[in-house]
Amino acid sequence: MDPSTSGLAQKLAEAGQSHLLQFWGELSPEAQTDLSLALQGMDFQEINGFFKSAMETSSSSKHEKMDARMEPVPREVLGSVTRDRESLGDWELTGLQCISQSKVGALLLAGGQGTRLGVSYPKGMYDVGLPSHKTLFQIQAERILKLQQLAEQKHGTKCCIPWYIMTSGRTMESTKDFFARHNYFGLEENNVIFFQQGMLPAMDYNGKIILESKGKLSMAPDGNGGLYRALGNDGITEDMERRGIEFIHVYCVDNILVKVADPAFVGFCVQKGADCGAKVVEKTNPTEAVGVVCKVDGLYQVVEYSEITLATAEKRSADGRLMFNAGNVANHFFSFSFLKDVVQKYEPKLQHHVAQKKIPFVDTRGQLIKPDKPNGIKMEKFVFDIFQFSKTFVVYEVLREDEFSPLKNADTQDGKDTPTTARHALTSLHHRWVLNAGGHFIDENGRRVPAIPSLKDGTDLPIKCEISPLVSYGGEGLEELVRGREFHPTLMIDEQGVHELVKNGV
Ligand code: UD1
Repeated sequence: MDPSTSGLAQKLAEAGQSHLLQFWGELSPEAQTDLSLALQGMDFQEINGFFKSAMETSSSSKHEKMDARMEPVPREVLGSVTRDRESLGDWELTGLQCISQSKVGALLLAGGQGTRLGVSYPKGMYDVGLPSHKTLFQIQAERILKLQQLAEQKHGTKCCIPWYIMTSGRTMESTKDFFARHNYFGLEENNVIFFQQGMLPAMDYNGKIILESKGKLSMAPDGNGGLYRALGNDGITEDMERRGIEFIHVYCVDNILVKVADPAFVGFCVQKGADCGAKVVEKTNPTEAVGVVCKVDGLYQVVEYSEITLATAEKRSADGRLMFNAGNVANHFFSFSFLKDVVQKYEPKLQHHVAQKKIPFVDTRGQLIKPDKPNGIKMEKFVFDIFQFSKTFVVYEVLREDEFSPLKNADTQDGKDTPTTARHALTSLHHRWVLNAGGHFIDENGRRVPAIPSLKDGTDLPIKCEISPLVSYGGEGLEELVRGREFHPTLMIDEQGVHELVKNGV
């Protein structure tokens, strides 16, 4: 279709984006059709508007002023697994009850591109090298299965935790295919609901959309806050309503320790009557790449690691801890009615954040250029930007070693948030579960392995121990399997039983 007769050329000219057709005459008919379809589907006035307001809000002077407006989370809205130990059991009971009534849904944000990890497939398909070689998706699916079982056992009713999975244009097909190939990891197919977030073009600093090749725009997912628009567009809120979902646990794909639909977190939020809640861990290092939950101008917000100044990140309270230490682990609680309000009323009010990026582009001569410094921006909404609309916001603090080990980067020596650190975090946690349930580990000489690995004798690597989520969700139910027994690592406990892999020569 000729862009000048179809009205496309004019639409682009009006939006100041005519350069997108510069190479039209050089494209094959198929490439022309693809480009034309891509352009027809875009609302350029809206995109230009996003660019303008995102650039305005990201201007540095506003950031500096933000520091003075930040306040830490007050103790009254905080629940803590360490400081409020006595309430933990009660929160968990409430959460399990809600789960048993099929009122709780899990929502996974899996539309990211995994650029830092450097894989071409969705991050949830990653195998960090556990003895079982389970992927992140499988681990999460099995936690859901186990939790359904625990709730059913406790309350004697059949229940379901529907799993909503947000993908993007780049990850949808491979994600769906992966689940189908693995039989939904034992979950019922109709309780795993995929939906797709939107994409936005990358733009140069003058607001011109970037071409990644002569016939293709440079597109990226619109951030994990693209969730809210997608929930509305794809009819997901209706699905939740139809199923009677009242509480939703939203979380990121990359945390190997994530407690999917965590009953204690859900129960805490429900007991507090919260419409919105955030799980946090204590941030102890000012430069750690986690956002911090805090108040800005009296409203709750996460100030992202890319948006806080070092001076503020380093501020300390009288007790010596970081003043802004509520580290966001990207686990959020929403009541359904709040989520529905967000989708229907608040979503359009959310601003895009600006990420400056090195974006490969074709120049006016048609040459592909790979820039070595940032040449443009990607625009993203963030999932937590709706905290500001919450009327009853709560924060739930958990232990990092029990619940947070994200997979962000590829393995390098001493790397942070890598497959190795994720694997070690999980095996260390499971090691502790075995010890706490009365089991012991012995080395090849039959000697007890110290509970705390020592650096001196080279045994600083965690004990290899993996417990299937189908056996234990959070360390429960292990006594009968391990109490008073001695194990050689590698220990694996799954539905088939207790296996010592090395001893058996596996
Ligand atoms: C995120 C949090 C940060 C937190 C950290 C903890 C956001 C915006 N930031 O940072 O505050 O401290 O995790 O690990 O939440 N995703 C999409 N669509 C997108 C982009 C991302 O679904 O367009 C998903 C990813 O698949 C992933 C999650 O969002 O599950 C987080 O994305 P990522 O870019 O890794 O966030 P971080 O910068 O690590």
